[in-house]
Amino acid sequence: MSVHVQTSRMTTTKIRQMAAEGEKISMLTSYDFTLASLVDEAGVDMILVGDSASNIVCGNSYTLPITVDEMIFLTKGVVRAAQRALVVIDMPFGSYQVSEEEAVRNAVKMMKESGADAVKLEGGEEILPAIRHIIQAGVPVCGHLGLTPQSVNQLGGYGLRAKGEAEAEKLMHDAELLAQAGCFAIVLEKIPAALAGEVTKMLAKYNCPTIGIGAGNLTSGQVLVLHDMLGLNQGFKPKFLRHFASLAESVKNAVSTYVAAVKDSSFPNAEESY
Ligand code: KIV
Repeated sequence: MSVHVQTSRMTTTKIRQMAAEGEKISMLTSYDFTLASLVDEAGVDMILVGDSASNIVCGNSYTLPITVDEMIFLTKGVVRAAQRALVVIDMPFGSYQVSEEEAVRNAVKMMKESGADAVKLEGGEEILPAIRHIIQAGVPVCGHLGLTPQSVNQLGGYGLRAKGEAEAEKLMHDAELLAQAGCFAIVLEKIPAALAGEVTKMLAKYNCPTIGIGAGNLTSGQVLVLHDMLGLNQGFKPKFLRHFASLAESVKNAVSTYVAAVKDSSFPNAEESY
């Protein structure tokens, strides 16, 4: 299926405009030049270099271990690939919680050294001063509420968030504070669809789109982890995830065919030799 894709480079202004005009926003993660090139060519609006790289690229069980310098290293390749998509870099755990000064220093370093267009931070009111200072420094910020994986040790797991009234009210309040502070978008992760719809409606007056993951289809857009939606991450199939391909099987078939061809000396053949 082909889609009509705007070819000029995405900006945070265009992202806000898309939401205001009712056009859904597509976002996917990428962590390297080759896959980011394909994702960009296929027409995604925003590429997130997520700290999920800690799991997907580095094999950790949590997002917490990845560092600022590792995030910058990965993002450089993605930025070289992105001709059209807006590139957002995740600020890793510990890089914005200590003080506002340190948050700004790290955000500026990440923007300067990676070439990303914006940063993303997890949390609400408790990190508002950091968000305000980063935005004042001229760095566009994407918020992230609901399930915030950097706080997994505090949350006690990766379950659905804001099921109860008190947490849902706090989330609405946090979303409004983030939008008032100037966030150009807010990721809503793993919350009930109806709540995500309410947040999205409430944020319309701030022209602040919501990007959902496990948050239903009433948000302004959607984000998924690329390796999950491509079916590369075997055994990970939460309810919200759709596999748009089954690449784990394709990769394993290709590799086992290669191994067999090497073993029986059918690769390389005469045409593949000099
Ligand atoms: O790190 C990440 O990939 C994310 C998405 C799941 C939104 O934050």
